[in-house]
Amino acid sequence: MQNKTFAIIKPDAVESNNLGKIIDIIIKNEFTILNARLITMSVSQAEGFYAIHKERPFFHDLVSFMCSGPCMVLELEKPNAVKEWRSLIGSTDPNEADDGTIRKDFAESKERNSVHGSDSDENASIEINYFFKNEI
Ligand code: CMP
Repeated sequence: MQNKTFAIIKPDAVESNNLGKIIDIIIKNEFTILNARLITMSVSQAEGFYAIHKERPFFHDLVSFMCSGPCMVLELEKPNAVKEWRSLIGSTDPNEADDGTIRKDFAESKERNSVHGSDSDENASIEINYFFKNEI
């Protein structure tokens, strides 16, 4: 069990002015924000990040959505961070997400689902390094 995870507040949530509300939820749930950056992903950045999904039918739409506007990438810290963050964001499909989760409250659809969370400690390390290594 690792105490760090990687999160994205996705373009739909930024566009609908929910960025501040989601950051507030992160803080109220006692995550420490170790790193945060507002970026607009390039196609190659999004393709690399979601490479595991490249054979899936939704891949091109997902990449295009993730590059459609600013998003916030974050490195979060809390005991058992991966599990805690995934439980706070809820299921990928907001229609299946539990009440009180971020996706239930803010997401529009499976694709425009407001937030990302790493699914394992191993992927959390990979994803944190993907966006925060080699920073000046
Ligand atoms: P995320 O947690 O960022 O990880 C992969 C993303 O792919 C997921 O959130 C969704 O936004 C997206 N995704 C997964 N399944 C589907 C689907 N069936 N249709 C569209 N997008 C999907």
